[in-house]
Amino acid sequence: MPHSPMTELSTQFLSRLKSHAATVEGELERLLSSTPFADEIARPERLLSAMRHGVLNGGKRLRPFLVMETAALLGGNPTAALRVAAALECIHCYSLVHDDLPAMDNDDLRRGQPTVHIAYDDATAILAGDSLLTLAFDTVAAPQTALPDAQKVALVLALSRAAGLGGMAGGQALDLAAEVTAPDEAGIRTLQSMKTGALIRFACEAGAMIADAPQHRHTLRRYGETIGLAFQLADDLLDVTADSATMGKATGKDAARGKGTLVSLHGEAWARQTLETLVNDACALLEPFAGKADMLKQTAYFVAERRN
Ligand code: IPE
Ligand code: IPE
Ligand code: MG
Ligand code: MG
Ligand code: MG
Repeated sequence: MPHSPMTELSTQFLSRLKSHAATVEGELERLLSSTPFADEIARPERLLSAMRHGVLNGGKRLRPFLVMETAALLGGNPTAALRVAAALECIHCYSLVHDDLPAMDNDDLRRGQPTVHIAYDDATAILAGDSLLTLAFDTVAAPQTALPDAQKVALVLALSRAAGLGGMAGGQALDLAAEVTAPDEAGIRTLQSMKTGALIRFACEAGAMIADAPQHRHTLRRYGETIGLAFQLADDLLDVTADSATMGKATGKDAARGKGTLVSLHGEAWARQTLETLVNDACALLEPFAGKADMLKQTAYFVAERRN
């Protein structure tokens, strides 16, 4: 059945996005408080401050929203979902801190503020990223995440696979290589499914894992892959079309660095058409959930139509 294109986001969606962001920021505040956790020796002030700068500085909090909404769809424990959501956001923020370093994209502006290595220094930014990555696994494994151990282990495994060599970090390596030798379309799709897609896919699959609903994992995985591709396509389109003030980060960077993207390969009109197709595909995947998946359908639209 064809899906009628959404023309605007509901106020209910926008207010949920905002309230989930506030909830996850509360959890991130707790994780990044100055009091050491059990068995930590001390929390160095400057490093903690740099981590807070990299995390508590706005951001759409899309990945946490996806964890919380997919878990809610399947009746997963909301407190456990919040912990996993915060863990994933720590990894996402670490990836941005490192992505902005001089050795990578060399960017000065992120979420409308100086990047961590500008506000602090390169070494502190590297260590802030390292510590955020570790904190993510701490957060999933800790006793406050009220899930059976087997589910926690499965989440740690899936998060590791999404974040590491064969996921986000590997994708970042391919992305840097793409500045030297332009990849073909298949190469671009692979690098994007890794650098951006993997964490977004995890966010969606995590809902099924938290709710212990393996029968839905595959559908949510495919939904995650579809919106993940849309997300990076929108990012590449915005890099060409949007201004830095709206984005809170530099734009025009991909062309300046000679980076091969699907937008540079096929043009803006193709990108817009493809975004529409991806939104329809994502919504079609959610049909079995009918009206219960309205928030996730709107999320697909939000990802493709976002302005920042
Ligand atoms: C930016 O991610 C990096 C990409 C994967 C393209 P977001 O656009 O989700 O960044 P924030 O978290 O909202 O700042
Ligand atoms: C970043 O992609 C992806 C990750 C951080 C994993 P980009 O380099 O395109 O992200 P922006 O445009 O700097 O946010
Ligand atoms: Mg980059
Ligand atoms: Mg970048
Ligand atoms: Mg970009």
